[in-house]
Parts: sequence; C-alpha cells; structure tokens
Amino acid sequence: MILLLCLAVLAVWTIIFRYRRRRMYQLAALVPTSKEELPVIGIAHTLVGNTEEIMNSLQRFSYVAMEHNGIMRGWLNHILYFVLINPIDVEMVLKTCLEKDDLHRFIRKITGYGGIFAPVTIWRRRRKILLPAFSPKIVENFVEVFSEQSEKLTKLLATQSDHGKFSIWPFITSYTLDSVCETAMGVKVNAQGNPNCSFLKALNLVLNLICERIFHLWLQPDWLYKFFPQYYRQQKCVDELNGFTDKVIENKREELKNEKKCKTEADHHYDLGNYQKKTFLDLLISLSGGENGYNNVQLREEILTLTVAGTDTSAVAICYTLMLLGKYPKIQMKLFEELDEVFGESDRPLEKDDLQKLKYLDRVVKESLRLFPPVPFIIRKVLEDIKLPSSGYTLPAGCGVVVSIWGAHRDPRYWGPDAEMFDPDRFLPERFNLKYPCSFMPFSNGPRNCLGYQYALMSVKTALSAVLRRYRVVGENEHSNAPRIRVKLDIMMKAVDGYQVALERRSKTVA
Ligand code: HEM
Repeated sequence: MILLLCLAVLAVWTIIFRYRRRRMYQLAALVPTSKEELPVIGIAHTLVGNTEEIMNSLQRFSYVAMEHNGIMRGWLNHILYFVLINPIDVEMVLKTCLEKDDLHRFIRKITGYGGIFAPVTIWRRRRKILLPAFSPKIVENFVEVFSEQSEKLTKLLATQSDHGKFSIWPFITSYTLDSVCETAMGVKVNAQGNPNCSFLKALNLVLNLICERIFHLWLQPDWLYKFFPQYYRQQKCVDELNGFTDKVIENKREELKNEKKCKTEADHHYDLGNYQKKTFLDLLISLSGGENGYNNVQLREEILTLTVAGTDTSAVAICYTLMLLGKYPKIQMKLFEELDEVFGESDRPLEKDDLQKLKYLDRVVKESLRLFPPVPFIIRKVLEDIKLPSSGYTLPAGCGVVVSIWGAHRDPRYWGPDAEMFDPDRFLPERFNLKYPCSFMPFSNGPRNCLGYQYALMSVKTALSAVLRRYRVVGENEHSNAPRIRVKLDIMMKAVDGYQVALERRSKTVA
C-alpha cells in the first residue's frame, strides 16, 4: 500500500515536473541528437567510465554536431545540454551566456570566487581589476622569468636525454608552476629540481580529486562527499595551497607597509610604467585600491585562480607540441633552422625580442593548439532563451551549452578537407583567412575569454625554444598527416600516455 502511494506521488511529481518544463522539451525535440541517446537517461551512460572514454564520447558528439550544422542535443538524465560548434552560434553564446555551469562549483573549492569560475556578479568587477595586469607591456616583462626557468628545464632534461622514452609531463608542469608562482607571487617554489614540492603535489592531487568528483555523481553532493576519504585528502590539499599563499600575501603586505614608510607623497602617483616589474600580487593590490582594495582572502582567491588557470594549460600546450614534433621530423627540422637563424651558435638565454622573430614556431604552436586545445570544452549556463543566428534553433532557459573547441577546430567546413592534418603553414598570413573568429578559439572568445593568452603564448614559446635549441624530440613517426594521440579529459585534455617522448642532444646547428 505504502509502495503504491509512493509510486503515485512520484508519478504526479513527474507529470508536474515535465509539464512545467514542457517548453524545454518541445524546443529540445527539434534539435538533432546522437543515436546513442536512450529514454530517461539520455546520453548519461556515455559519460561514465574512465576519462579517456568520456573524452571519446564528447569527441563523437562533436562529430554528430558537425553533421548537423554545428549543434547536437543531449539529455544528461533530467539536465539538458547542447553541444555547439557552429562558429556564428558559438560567438553569440560566448557573448551572451556568461554564467558558468554548476559543475564548476567543485573547482571553487580551491579558487573560491577568483575570476575564472566566479558567478557573473562577482566576476565582472574582478575581471575589470585583473585586466590591466595582463597588458602586453606588463606581460612581456615576464619573459625574463620564463627564460630563466626554461634554462633550468633544459638542464634537468639532460638527465633524460639519450636514455630512450620517458614522460616529459612532470618536467614541463614543474616549469610552468615555477613560472606562474614567480610571476604571480614573486616566490620561487622550485618545483623543478624538487619532485617532492608540496605545493605542486597538493595542486596536482586536488585537481585530480575535483576531476573525479565531476564525473562521479555519488561524489557530488557536499553532505555525501564528507563520508569519503577523498574529502579529507581534498581538505588537506586546499589547506596546503591556502597556507602557502596566505603566507606570501602576509609577507607582501608587510613589505608594502615598510616601503610606504620610506616613500614621499609624490611617489604614490603611479602609472602603468611603474607596474612593469611587478608581480600579479603587487598589481592586484594596487589595482584593487591598495589598502582599501582586496582583502587577503580575495587576494588568495585571485592568485590561486591564476595558478590553476596558468599551470596545466600551458604545460599541456608545450607537451602536445613536443609530441607532434616527434611525429613530424620535417617540421621539427624547419623549426631547428629558424632557431639556428635567430640564435646561431650562441647559448644565450632567449630575450623578448627573439619571440617576434620566431614566426615558424608561432605557427607550429597555433596548429598544435588547434588540433589539441588544452581546454577542449567550455560549459556555460543559459539563463534566458536564445535564438541561435545560424542554425535558427532556440536554446531554452535552464539548459547548459557545451562549446566544443575541439570540434570547432576540426570542422572541415571552416578548415577544409584536410582539417585533421597537422599543417602549421595553414597559419601563414597569406593562407590564414578564417571567416569567423570562433573557428579558432583555444583561448575562448567574448567577454570571458582567457586573460592570460599572451602570457601563455610567451611562456610556451620560450620553453619550446629552449628545449629545441638543445634537443631533438624523437617520437613515433606518424605515417599519416593526421596525428593520432590518445587523449583523456582530466579537467584539461591530456595525453593518456603522459606525453612519452625521447630526447636526443642536438649538435649546435642543423647543417
Ligand atoms: C595554453 C594555455 C592556456 C589556454 C589554452 C587557456 C584557455 C583558457 C580558456 C579556454 C578560458 C576561458 C573559459 C571560458 O570561456 O569559459 C580561459 C580563461 C582564463 N584564463 Fe586561460 N588559458 C591558458 C593559459 C592561461 C594563463 C597562463 C593564465 C594566467 C597566468 C590564464 C588566465 C586565465 C584567466 C584569468 C581566465 C578567466 C577569464 C575570465 O573568466 O574572465 N590562462 N583560459
């Protein structure tokens, strides 16, 4: 009897629930979907399994969208998502849907309300404050740090060169963490050279735990998560990251107090010129209003956000590029020629003016970011109905949109029949004439795009140039021009094999 009553209540509740959302169901039904969709659960069964299987499902859905004018619908149980790759529609979505999907709430355990994952009301003000800190004049001064850290990297790689294959990931991620920490906080965490660096360990572990939580429904409710050992491990990591950052902030406050004592009134007038040698922490304190600006928690949130946003992303970009060069020796050879032209026999560190001259390297990095974008998907919430300008479908309020950067970058409609091929010269000025900006968006597009893209490109190119001046990457030669690398979705899109490459010491010049 009780069972029957429960079933009746459930049935009534379902009918009311569906009736209230009838418009959503009607609009969703108009949009093509995958053959894999099942009743009730939709495509939820395709997003279980390991992170490689999840990535493969999302890739398949991007291809389904490609076949249907750049859009596909997918129910994740009762939650409606659209996968979008049409660049005209994507541009509109990235301009109008600024709120991040609820899945990002897990990353807020580390970054709090730091810009990247914050709700729009908080993000707007924080982005305004952060924006001037990423002006090209400021960012190009960081090249000195990238250059110094890259030199360290090449020395550490010497232990692995001529010894066959190894995973280059830990070396590169330590380089990017060292660079980000020095430019963001002005501290040398020395992750390179110290594989037990507690900051790096905590950062890696907490990102893995968050990723696990995103893809395992039973780990998602906060009250339930507390019963799992992962909760305590996450807390420990967060405490480690917060403790370290708080200490740096306190020291900086103290330093500024002492500086202020020694300064005259006239010194307090500052312009961009005065900011140039500062770290992001200095800049955030000044730009948010000095002593009346951000408090220590807000500063910590912003600094940890930059650390999370800037470490693995750039490391992934460097690692894929190295793997691709290992697969295509002719392209690598062309790069050696350019590097030898710029640096000759000299062992001098790279300077910011060198980056302008490395035009082929620039094309190689862009092509690598096209085929293997570190952030392959962006998920946004739709708060009000939007009619898509190209496909004409309406995205109903309450759904989520998965912008597939991965799919947009491989759509033959915009990249031609050789879209899957690795061809850096497609970025030659005379060949590169993309009609729509959202056909190429490794750093996203619109008001919430990546603030660190110039920083990232400089850091990535500096590290690549340092490694390739000393070493030849030896990988598995690819017989087709379409590179195959097994990938997984580990917050970022990473190679399953941990980026296995071999390095051989290069003789000074190609000749
Ligand atoms: C190759 C390296 C990188 C890639 C591929 C990348 C990609 C992205 C993408 C796709 C977004 C936007 C997400 C969205 O639209 O919802 C983003 C946001 C952001 N990135 Fe990057 N990023 C990289 C490196 C960096 C670095 C090095 C920094 C800073 C040091 C950085 C700082 C940020 C910030 C602050 C945001 C948030 C912008 C906002 O919400 O207003 N990124 N990044």
